[in-house]
Amino acid sequence: MRGYLVAGNWKMNGSNVANAELVDGIIAGAPQSDLVELLVCPPFPYLSAVAAKTSGSNVRLGAQTISEHESGAFTGETAGSMLRDVGCEYVIVGHSERRALMGETSQAVADKFMAAQKCGLTPILCVGETLEQRESGKTEAVIDEQLNAVLDSAGIDAFGRAVIAYEPVWAIGTGMTATPDQAQEVHRHIRALLEAKSESVAEGVKILYGGSVKGDNAGGLFSNPDIDGGLIGGASLKSEDFLAIAEAAVAIC
Ligand code: PGA
Repeated sequence: MRGYLVAGNWKMNGSNVANAELVDGIIAGAPQSDLVELLVCPPFPYLSAVAAKTSGSNVRLGAQTISEHESGAFTGETAGSMLRDVGCEYVIVGHSERRALMGETSQAVADKFMAAQKCGLTPILCVGETLEQRESGKTEAVIDEQLNAVLDSAGIDAFGRAVIAYEPVWAIGTGMTATPDQAQEVHRHIRALLEAKSESVAEGVKILYGGSVKGDNAGGLFSNPDIDGGLIGGASLKSEDFLAIAEAAVAIC
């Protein structure tokens, strides 16, 4: 049993006051289940303050991106060792907003993925197609290119210490969730791609779905055999909404 991971990507939202209320609410209501792990990913400036609260709780801490470099003259960048130092266990790499808005290429994402693992962080590798790519039948080709860039650089065994998030770009922040069948089809494709290289790694890797997940659609998504949780944006910013998604996972276990 792979269990579920319900991860909150807070993006560029929050403040000291709002975050304290949010994380206190999540910790207080976090389900006591060995099979459902909760994770919050605040913006960099708030990691330490949130870590002070999550430390000793059953809510894990992650960051939203990482530098591919170890240290040095990279103004504005944050190294994996620093993320570990402030209590992070996970880091999101290759979110579609960073690919589209910050020009991160699949190779840059692969470098970040490896930098994360080198520091003992578990990367959450985001992949996903745009609406135009889906409508022109390119979904699988896009996912393959994004995954293969990491597989070619890091190797299949690296996926024994990683999470994948399938996030169709057209479903992010739009309220247009992929149907459970649409999501499962792509998740199966991703797992099959890994299976061709190692059945045991493919069997063990968690594949999250992201894109307008809410309390009322999470159950339908998570009950599919290849969907192992969610990467949640908008609905991770209110503890009740986030916990409703966690409860949907618990209900399936
Ligand atoms: P959303 O964002 O839940 O607001 O659609 C998901 C994400 O971008 O990770």
